[in-house]
Amino acid sequence: MHITASDIDPAQIDADAIITPVFEGDDPREGSLQELNNLSGGKVASLFERGEIAGKRDRWALLHIEDLALLFYGAGKMESSSLSLQRMAGGAARALVARGMKSVAFLIDERIDPHLQARAVIEGAAMGQMETNLYANDRREREIERFILASKQSFAFDDAIREGAAMAEAANLARRLSYEPGNVMTPSEMSRRAEEMALREGLSFESFDEAEIKRMGMGALAAVSRGSDESARLIVMGYNLDDQTDTELTALVGKGITFDSGGISIKPASNMDEMKYDMGGGAAVIGAMQAIARLRPRARVLGVIPAAENLPSGRAVKPGDVVRSLSGKTIEVANTDAEGRLVLADAITYAANRGATRIIDVATLTGACVIALGEARAGIMGTDQGLIDALIRAGERTGERLWQLPADNEYGEMIRSDIADIKNTGNRFAGAITAGMFIKNFAGRLPWAHLDIAGTAWLEQEKPHLARGATGFGARLLADFIINP
Ligand code: BES
Ligand code: MN
Ligand code: ZN
Repeated sequence: MHITASDIDPAQIDADAIITPVFEGDDPREGSLQELNNLSGGKVASLFERGEIAGKRDRWALLHIEDLALLFYGAGKMESSSLSLQRMAGGAARALVARGMKSVAFLIDERIDPHLQARAVIEGAAMGQMETNLYANDRREREIERFILASKQSFAFDDAIREGAAMAEAANLARRLSYEPGNVMTPSEMSRRAEEMALREGLSFESFDEAEIKRMGMGALAAVSRGSDESARLIVMGYNLDDQTDTELTALVGKGITFDSGGISIKPASNMDEMKYDMGGGAAVIGAMQAIARLRPRARVLGVIPAAENLPSGRAVKPGDVVRSLSGKTIEVANTDAEGRLVLADAITYAANRGATRIIDVATLTGACVIALGEARAGIMGTDQGLIDALIRAGERTGERLWQLPADNEYGEMIRSDIADIKNTGNRFAGAITAGMFIKNFAGRLPWAHLDIAGTAWLEQEKPHLARGATGFGARLLADFIINP
């Protein structure tokens, strides 16, 4: 999708369609609606009079004037959050791409902040038009080729276009990786895709295979991968690592379980297929690193992804086994399905050994978080309230919203082991929090925040603006956090 801004009169724009957001209470005899009403010879006003256009959220009307389609898209009550704007632009783009429109203009609403609006509209439109039938023989590569932001202030949109495009492509990259089935998206394939991105964007790249992982002492990551014939991978990407002027080095650590069967503590069959998206945290880190490389903030960032497949076999790690992590801490594997925290433990120690000064991990970590927060917000917890607050703000800016969970010591007591330093599960209570408390032990004294995206990384039901399935949650949030600390 090629994006430009233009200040030509809507009536003169050369496009297949024009999207006009309509808020509740908007009047067809004012502003750009009036211009379109004139262009249509009064038809717009009569659609308003008949109640076919009323600004109701996600309700839309399409009016054809010769070769031009006018799409009036209901945006609901006047509100200017990124999320509501994305929803509107995404819904409009989905409707138009389904009708084969190739060039689309969007009328910027002069009442809403132009930068926020342009970014959200680009992100919504680019994400909304993604189709998910990657391997269907009748798949049609439909896409809006030209997207024009129409505004009298078109000169003000350069930065927003650059940012919006980078953010949207980051999210769609993360989504694409998460949609790939487990037989394609193995740990080695995840490493190859990350490498392809890193080399293209000028990031440093390293990747360690299972033999190297064992040699380095990453017994927790190796234990998770033992049951699988696929080699585990530790994927490491770097942005500006050699910059001497910046003392902070932020590590983004993403869970990369390319398929989670549960291992010997095997999951029930229903919906197990969805566990291909258990690498959604890693995908978010790959997406974020791409956006960071393109937007070039003054920052140093290390992206680390422990990638493995969690399967049962005659060699697999068993409940009750004790493993030694890279940190030296011994772990009782009480449940082999609590594998995410095991691979993250070693990846976090690795990041700390590489000189990270703060750690943010992102993971589809617990079903308990899905029960607590559903698909609307991801859980966040950590040891540094300033870091947590900054991430929550980035979440509001990007529409990838967070909700904080507590991290009191009482929760840490629930994962004490009789035989080792720590065990990987507690009881049924507070499952999202005890999972986070396990990870906290490996961040040590570094400022640390943990995002549990189990509920937000995958949509059970399609939305007007987003297909069912992978959302890429975290890619934009993490990139935005690095760019606007
Ligand atoms: N990958 C799952 C968590 C998950 C569940 C992600 C649903 C997305 C949707 C994780 O590895 C897991 O299996 N967690 C267990 C932990 C339990 C064994 C303590 C869970 O949540 O049931
Ligand atoms: Mn699991
Ligand atoms: Zn998992």
